[in-house]
Amino acid sequence: MSLESLELYKNSECMAESKIVVVLEYMIFNIFNSRKNHQYIKSLQLQGKEKILDFGCGAGSVSKHLAKSLSKGGILTCVDISEYWMKKAMKRLRHFPNVQFKLGYLPKMNLPKSSFERIFIHASLHEVSKHLLDDVAASFKGLLTLDGRIYVKEPILQHHGMPVSEIRALFTNIGMEEIKFSITKKEYSGIFRRK
Ligand SMILES: C[S@@+](CC[C@H](N)C(=O)[O-])C[C@H]1O[C@@H](n2cnc3c(N)ncnc32)[C@H](O)[C@@H]1O
Repeated sequence: MSLESLELYKNSECMAESKIVVVLEYMIFNIFNSRKNHQYIKSLQLQGKEKILDFGCGAGSVSKHLAKSLSKGGILTCVDISEYWMKKAMKRLRHFPNVQFKLGYLPKMNLPKSSFERIFIHASLHEVSKHLLDDVAASFKGLLTLDGRIYVKEPILQHHGMPVSEIRALFTNIGMEEIKFSITKKEYSGIFRRK
C-alpha cells in the first residue's frame, strides 16, 4: 500500500468512526429526552380519561407519552400550524386510536368551546409570533372547561425561549392563576387554572 492510499484509508476509517459517534450521540440524546418527557407527563398525574388539547404538537415526540397516559378513554387532540410537522406526528402516533389531528392556526379553528379539560403546551409558545400570542391565549381560555388546567413548559433562554414574566403575563391577562411552577436555568414549567 502506498503512503498516499494508506492516508486515504486512515481518513475514511476516521470518518466512519466519527459518523458512528454522531449516530450514537443522537440516539443517547433521544433516549434521554424520551425519559425526561415520560417523567414530565407522569408528574402531571392524569387520570387517563381527560380530553386534552396538545397545542403545537410538532413531530409528536411528547404527544406520544400523553397519548399513552390516556388509557381510560381520554382523547388527545394534536394541533399544529405546520403540515410538515403534523405529518410526522401522524406517522409517529398512527397506532393510537385515541388521538385526533387538526391542522391550522388555533384562533381560526372551529374547535368546540369549553371542550378540553387540559391544554398542554410544550415548547410551542415561544414559536408563536408575538403579535398573535394574545389571540392564541384567549382561544385557550375559550376551549378550556371551567375547572380545566393549562400545562405549560417552555424554554427560557435568551437565544431560545421566552422570559418567565411574559409567560406568566400571558395567562394572568386572560384571568388564569398559576397554581404550581418550577424554574431551572433553561426551562419554565407551570400549571394554570381560572381565577
Ligand atoms: C418547537 S415545536 C414543539 C413541538 C412539541 N410540542 C415538542 O415539544 O416536541 C413548536 C411547534 O409549534 C407549532 N406552532 C407554532 N405556532 C403555532 C400556532 N399558532 N398554532 C399551532 N401550532 C403552532 C410549530 O409548527 C411547531 O411544530
